[in-house]
Amino acid sequence: MKKINLKDLKITAQNEIKKVSNLNDLDVVFKKYLGKKGKISQVFRSLKKSSSTEKAKIGKELNEFKSVFKKEINQRTTYFNKILKDKKKKERIDITRPGKKPSLGSLHPLTLVRRKTEEIFQNLGFSVVGGSEIENEWYNFDALNIPSDHPARDLWDTFWIDTKEQKLLLRTHTSPVQIHYMENNNPPLRIIVPGRCFRYEATDASHDIQFYQVEGLMVDKEVSVANFKAIIQEFFRQFFGKPVEIRLRPSYFPFTEPSFEVDMTCLNCGGKGCSACSQTGWMEMMGAGMVHPNVYKACGLNPKMWQGFAFGMGLDRLAMMKYKINDIRLFYGSDLRFLKQF
Ligand code: DAH
Repeated sequence: MKKINLKDLKITAQNEIKKVSNLNDLDVVFKKYLGKKGKISQVFRSLKKSSSTEKAKIGKELNEFKSVFKKEINQRTTYFNKILKDKKKKERIDITRPGKKPSLGSLHPLTLVRRKTEEIFQNLGFSVVGGSEIENEWYNFDALNIPSDHPARDLWDTFWIDTKEQKLLLRTHTSPVQIHYMENNNPPLRIIVPGRCFRYEATDASHDIQFYQVEGLMVDKEVSVANFKAIIQEFFRQFFGKPVEIRLRPSYFPFTEPSFEVDMTCLNCGGKGCSACSQTGWMEMMGAGMVHPNVYKACGLNPKMWQGFAFGMGLDRLAMMKYKINDIRLFYGSDLRFLKQF
């Protein structure tokens, strides 16, 4: 057996103990020297074959080394334990301290208004239907009786999406969902479609490149403008929590005939006339009309069999009226000072 230099072994062992910085590593060093296969145990075993004088001499030295080594290990263990204890003392959890309050968010005003609108219309027998924000020209324009050479296309400034296969666009209104729905569902039907729309326009206090609309569609055998008036008046009454007057003004939309604009008593002045309503006493709330025969045809329905009304209302506008907000851009600015008020 190779002769082990006990002096060197002692020095390296002591150095290793000194270098250790935690209890786990200390245990590794302990095992390295005093474990079953440890270095000190190995030397003890190698003594078996030595002469008795050698045994006595080296054995004594080894035992001394062993006890010094153990003592040093014990000292380091006590030291590390003390550090751990102190640390624990400092880190003691004070269970009497008040907890951190989780900061709760609030619903966006547009969400509140959308939910309220859905609730009222659902109680009136309407289903809530969704649609895609990306459409093609057929659904956004042609099927709604707006062919490509029709000047009415100028009413909608459009974001186009360049694809190789087909011309796609961000829907400029929620009306395309009328077409999707009537392609797949036969009347009688009553739906509303809340959703986001996009227009390529300059932004100002009342225009943004994105905004929300609620489309409405009711088709049956005998649906008239009178039904429309009653339903919309009831909607406003419930939405604003008080009776409001509405009036219809003749207007033009390619997908309705006749078409009209719906005004509501200005809530700001109660109809007397103020700056919010340009002194008219009325607020413009939505576009509407009786569904055009060409729209039924585009969906594969017989216009002689069905009649109904459709409307498109700005959700942002509704929210602005309800909460007296004077700039549409606040809805999309993510400013917590604004959003926390709802
Ligand atoms: N889609 C129209 C717009 O965005 C609003 C509209 C008007 C919708 C009349 C309708 C309607 O369904 O009948 O300007």
